[in-house]
Parts: sequence; structure tokens; C-alpha cells
Amino acid sequence: MLVDSFGRIIDYIRLSVTDRCDFRCVYCMAEEMTFMPREQVLSLEELVAVGRAFVELGVKKIRITGGEPLVRRGVMKVFDELGQLPLEELTLTTNGSQLPKYASALRAAGVKRINISLDTLDPEKFHQLTRTGQLSQVLDGIKAAQDAGFERIKLNAVILKNRNAAEVPALTRFALEQGLDISFIEEMPLGSIVEHSRALEFCSSAELRALLSQHFSLAPLEDETAGPSRYWRADQYASRIGFISPHSENFCASCNRVRVSAEGKLLLCLGNDHAADLRAVLRAHPGDDKMLKIAIMDAMQHKPERHHFNHSDEPQIVRFMNTTGG
Ligand code: GTP
Ligand code: 5AD
Ligand code: SF4
Repeated sequence: MLVDSFGRIIDYIRLSVTDRCDFRCVYCMAEEMTFMPREQVLSLEELVAVGRAFVELGVKKIRITGGEPLVRRGVMKVFDELGQLPLEELTLTTNGSQLPKYASALRAAGVKRINISLDTLDPEKFHQLTRTGQLSQVLDGIKAAQDAGFERIKLNAVILKNRNAAEVPALTRFALEQGLDISFIEEMPLGSIVEHSRALEFCSSAELRALLSQHFSLAPLEDETAGPSRYWRADQYASRIGFISPHSENFCASCNRVRVSAEGKLLLCLGNDHAADLRAVLRAHPGDDKMLKIAIMDAMQHKPERHHFNHSDEPQIVRFMNTTGG
């Protein structure tokens, strides 16, 4: 079992399979991004070896992330092989654009739940926020996921005060009517962005709940997951409405997770730079998972207690979300 120096059990990894993406969301990436050279990115075999080592160390849940995980060539090998491991859950977070192609295969690989990012239902705004994406791509992806029969589909919306906060009731209504869960996320200060002021765009989860209360009758739900989302229910609907509030409702005390970036850096906290280089271990000792497991166990003592995000416009972490793994 992996336990950090604050007694937190780490039984969940977020494994990034690529830093690339077909979209360029303004809060996630710079418009002109240089992606990692291919040889620096873990191979499909190395990704599987990392996943397997963590599972042998007690990890019960793996979420595949990116960039956009489904633009990685051959990505189904990772799902197919990790899907064979004794995990409670194998899942992914995606922008949805490739789901018409992959939804059935993912379901067959054992993925039961899936998170899809969707910040607005307005086609023009969607294009502005993603810079390269079309709303119809994601709506088609959601439809494909519904047709493939996932047990739960959750939408993720990063909320920016002057861009999409007013749309929160409409996004909620869409989720409720489609039988989807939805989480609203406070933007995190990763990477330097030029399009907007993070300080001015901040919108707290409490403000969003106040806005939603004008349209729905909200009731808090008991915590079902150890994750950062705090869930509520609206009226008679079955959907869960989540709020991920890194700024206003810190959840680090119950953190159960670490990330592995596409280049094999074990990132111990989203909001800190503490990391261990798993790629160096993998490549120095190919096929020897003993060394990999030792490196992972050693790293746990360096997991920081919490992030210290604030509202300044200076990026607090230089790396962008796409190289962090969401
Ligand atoms: P679970 O895996 O069920 O916990 O779902 P999730 O909602 O956390 O995962 P998802 O990939 O959909 O992420 C939604 C948002 O939560 C993203 O903006 C993530 O960056 C953020 N998030 C996830 N885990 C953490 C964390 O440990 N710390 C912080 N600060 N944010 C997180
Ligand atoms: N702050 C908060 N969430 C972000 N995401 C991407 N960048 C940021 C950010 N700066 C979200 C995406 C996706 C998830 C993996 O992370 O919208 O839903
Ligand atoms: Fe791509 Fe997701 Fe980042 Fe948007 S938030 S650029 S969809 S990885």
C-alpha cells in the first residue's frame, strides 16, 4: 500500500498518455504550444508497465488523461491491457471529439464511467474557448458515449466569470435532461495565459450554487467518492451536480491521488513541482519492475501537504494543464 508522510493512502493514479490535443482550451494550453518530442514520451509498453507497477502497489483506480488521451496513436492497447488488471475502476477524462470512433471499444475494454469536458452550449463561445474545436464534435461524442452504454457520464465545465458563468443553469439543465452528471470547476493557475485575467475570471462554487438556486432546488449529497468534487442534487433529477473548488473549498487533506505525466514524471501534487523521474528508471532498468516500484514507493514521502493556489495573475506553476495530466 502507498501511504504518504501525512498518512494519506494513495490508491488512485491519473496516467497521462500524451500532452497533445486537438483543441487548445484557453485555460489549459498556450495557443502556440511545443509538444514533447516523441522519444521523450513513454511508449505504450512503458505506460502499461507504470500502470501495472502501481496496481501491484495497491492502486485501485486509474484515470487515463492527456492532453487528449484519444489522440494518442494505439491508445486502445493501454486500455485493453490495463483493463485486465485487478482494478476497481479504469476510466478516462476526454474532450469527447474522438468518442464516435472509440466509445464502443472503450466500453469493451472495461471502462464504465467517463468524463467529458464541455464548457458551453453556444457554438461561437465554444470555438473561442477551445480555439480549434467545434461544439458539434463534442455533442456527437456525448451521443456516442450514451449509445455505447457507459454506466455514468460526467461533464466537466471550467467556469470563467465573464465567459461562461451565466451559462451554468443552461449547462445544468442540459445535463439533467440528458441524464448526465456535471461538475463545475474553479480554474487553476497552471501555465501562463494571455487571453484573460485569472483573478478577474474567478467565480467561486458558492456563487454558482447561488445562481443555480434561482432555477433549481438544490440538496447536498453525502460524499460518495474521495475525489475533489462535492455533489448536490437538483429537484427530482438523478444526475449529480459537482463542484470542484480548489480555491474556495480546499480538498487536499483527503487527497488520494498522484499523477504520471506523458514523459513519465511522477507528479506528486497538481499544484507543486515535487516529482520523480519514472522514465529514467524504466529506461535504465528495462523490464525490471522492482526498481520502478522502489522509485514509486520512495517518491511518496515527497508528496506535499497541499497546494497554495492564489488569485494572482502570475502562473504559480509553470507547466500547463496539458503537460500535467488534468
Ligand atoms: P474523479 O476521478 O472521480 O475524482 O473525477 P474528477 O472529477 O476528479 O476527474 P476529472 O479528470 O474529471 O477532473 C475534473 C477536474 O478536477 C480537473 O480540472 C482536474 O484537474 C481536477 N482535479 C482532479 N483531481 C484533482 C486534485 O487532486 N487536485 C486538484 N487541485 N484538482 C484536481
Ligand atoms: N483549471 C481547472 N481545470 C482545468 N482543466 C484544464 N485546464 C484547467 C485549469 N487551468 C480541466 C479540463 C478537463 C480536466 C482534465 O481539466 O477542462 O475537464
Ligand atoms: Fe485539450 Fe482538454 Fe486541454 Fe482543452 S482542456 S486543450 S480539450 S486537454
